[in-house]
Amino acid sequence: MIGAVHIGLLAACVVLFVPMAMAGWHLSRNKMLFFSCALFITLAVGVHLMPYFPSISDFLSPSQVISLSSPSNRDSCVSFLHSVVYSGGGVIKECGIGCEKRLGWDWDWVGSGRVAGCEFQKLMRSDASDLLNGSWVVVAGDSQARLMAVSLLELVMGNEAMERVRGDLFKRHSDYSITVDEIGMKLDFFWAPYVGNLTELVLQLRRSRNIPDVMVVGAGLWDMLHVNNASEYGSALRVLRDNSLTLLPVSSNLDVGNSKPAARFLHLFWVGMPMLITTMLNTDEKREKMTTAIYDSYEDELTTSKIWRESGGPFFKLDVRLLSELCGPRCTSDGMHYDGVVYDATVQIMLNALLIESNQKLE
Ligand SMILES: *[C@@H]1O[C@H](CO)[C@@H](O)[C@H](O)[C@H]1NC(C)=O
Ligand SMILES: *[C@@H]1O[C@H](CO)[C@@H](O)[C@H](O)[C@H]1NC(C)=O
Ligand SMILES: *[C@@H]1O[C@H](CO)[C@@H](O)[C@H](O)[C@H]1NC(C)=O
Repeated sequence: MIGAVHIGLLAACVVLFVPMAMAGWHLSRNKMLFFSCALFITLAVGVHLMPYFPSISDFLSPSQVISLSSPSNRDSCVSFLHSVVYSGGGVIKECGIGCEKRLGWDWDWVGSGRVAGCEFQKLMRSDASDLLNGSWVVVAGDSQARLMAVSLLELVMGNEAMERVRGDLFKRHSDYSITVDEIGMKLDFFWAPYVGNLTELVLQLRRSRNIPDVMVVGAGLWDMLHVNNASEYGSALRVLRDNSLTLLPVSSNLDVGNSKPAARFLHLFWVGMPMLITTMLNTDEKREKMTTAIYDSYEDELTTSKIWRESGGPFFKLDVRLLSELCGPRCTSDGMHYDGVVYDATVQIMLNALLIESNQKLE
């Protein structure tokens, strides 16, 4: 890609050498000075007008992305990524194993104030394909992580292709691997219901020296139901945090020949726990063990273990609690697994975070 620096150097050379060449043609010093000034002014005006001519900007950045201007703006925008609103909703439709969709829900980012200024954009299939082209994405965790995998695959493969793989992806408690040939994206889902399983996976990746480009992980609900000890959960999180930090920053094995900055480093995301609606949970055991008090103590452990980026940890927090709470009881039938719209929003927030991190912007 031709950077602004190259253009600047080129301009400087033109201003310097063209008049000198002309001097070779026996122009007077005054004429040379005149040409120098004229050239300088032309180039300066040209550089300032360039952004207004899309065709020239396209030439400057052949890929679909341009740089975001100010880093401080980027950083403050990250904190607005979760500012979404839901709209519509109503009809229930069965759509195969593990899938029940309430149609008509939609979501978007808040359309006013500073959120609007950040110009977040829902990535279309082609945008997501560009961003994830040639990447290796690992999704690991419990059912919340699996629902993230579904939304991501739906986005890059389209609904029809997704229907064909949905049955395999939803085989209970199993791993799943798929390569989306069109964009050479590999997605691995690992069933890892406990934090210890995630740590094991991280250690395995480190041993194999084969590090994905994007990792989306999260666990908590199983622990709450089957172990129900928040302080043990916290200890496990701290072990995961320390081991995950050793993966960062690392050059991925996939970046050879891939000029996309997005695919160059491992990006770690944490899929948070959804809001639990105790009265809607579908077993007595769940209603008894997954109470608000226990949930809060698990959330506290997530905060104090400092696994999230905002407290110096390795994981960018995808706040599924907030996103599910905003949608509320109307978006879930069991008080724990929410409608696709919640995970679609979460996936889009993740992809926009990836764009911001890798300093890119959709045009
Ligand atoms: C993915 O990248 C490859 C090589 O960089 C390119 O040839 C291909 O067209 C890209 N595909 C998409 C869908 O962007
Ligand atoms: C996850 O960890 C639990 C407890 O350590 C273990 O029993 C289980 O086999 C592990 N599951 C996977 C898929 O590794
Ligand atoms: C939770 O686990 C810790 C450490 O294993 C143990 O000391 C504590 O008694 C447990 N708490 C409960 C409520 O079982």
